[in-house]
Amino acid sequence: MIGYLDNAASTPVDVKVGLAITRQLDSNGGFGNPSSVHEYGELASQYITTARCDVAKLLTSSDKQIVFTSGATESNNLALKGLSLCKHIITTAVEHKSIIASCSFLEQNGVDVTWLKPNPDGAIDLDELSDSMRVETGLVSIAHVNNETGFIQDISSIAEIVKSKGSLLHVDAAQSFGKLPIDLTKCPIDLLSISAHKIYGPKGVGALFVRKGLEKKMTPQMHGGGQELGLRSGTLPTHQIVGFGVAASIAQESMEQDHEVLTRYKARLIDALGQIGGMHINGDVSRSVPNILNISFDGVDSDVLIHRVRNKIAISNGSACNSGAIEPSYVLRAMGLPEERVYGAIRISTGRFTESDDIELAIETLHEAVTFLRS
Ligand SMILES: Cc1ncc(COP(=O)(O)O)c(C=O)c1O
Repeated sequence: MIGYLDNAASTPVDVKVGLAITRQLDSNGGFGNPSSVHEYGELASQYITTARCDVAKLLTSSDKQIVFTSGATESNNLALKGLSLCKHIITTAVEHKSIIASCSFLEQNGVDVTWLKPNPDGAIDLDELSDSMRVETGLVSIAHVNNETGFIQDISSIAEIVKSKGSLLHVDAAQSFGKLPIDLTKCPIDLLSISAHKIYGPKGVGALFVRKGLEKKMTPQMHGGGQELGLRSGTLPTHQIVGFGVAASIAQESMEQDHEVLTRYKARLIDALGQIGGMHINGDVSRSVPNILNISFDGVDSDVLIHRVRNKIAISNGSACNSGAIEPSYVLRAMGLPEERVYGAIRISTGRFTESDDIELAIETLHEAVTFLRS
């Protein structure tokens, strides 16, 4: 098998999650429409309530404020376009495409958007954020963890600034949910996007946390039966939501251990790949999640490198949406990294099912490939 080191793009489904989904699909009566008032509907609705509580627990939030969606892309669209009455939005130039494209759409429709650029470490300048806030700033949208570099923004300080200026804060937590502790009773985030397939759950399901009362000020993007606080109509996919709930409860239990193991893997990768020479770590590694490592090798183009190693290891050169269209990373460019580093960047992302053999295989394979390509 090829070593799978692209967990930031998507994670394998945990066996326990798969079993829970299958059981739900097989379950007698669990197929009912969760909005129906008969016994079949009630059973499906109970499954959903359990999952909603498990997802909420991982955010230390009320389950009543979890709006299930089809994934973080939809959650991000709902957060931004749902508050489109805002006159001014602040975001960053290194967000996921679902934020960039939604903000560009709003910009074309008359909303003023400020695009903050991080420093070469990946950090947003908090003074610049503060200075960019205006009386009419309705929303600030910043990702907790960057999907290409793994850089962790200081969300607590960002929330403090945004709240002190009386604006709303949306956080794209697709890469941090289930990996870093998030406590919404302590951090005043108003809207937060998450996704199941980044935490060993199924694709096609995610959620948006909506701070109590805010739902009344938002415009749904999907109109219909008024499910999910009226923000997201449509019959809920019970089996996918059940899978999401199980994935969230497993993450709750294994977060600490995953963190410890993946920290060890990352240290080993940095140490061994560093010995090849001419390696650069993109972004401040001391402020990044342990499962993502973004590096460039002098004189080596990432597309050529990824192609050369593809029969042995699965790695990427950025977000999944980008890697199909050979396009250098807009994230690393916005961080102001030199073009050679941008064109050379590869992302190695580990996960709960990565084994030390995968790490050793990656080291050996990259060592051989970089040496070959340089010669
Ligand atoms: C930071 C970030 N936001 C949003 C998304 C989109 O998530 P989904 O695939 O659930 O739509 C991703 C997925 O790569 C991501 O990394």
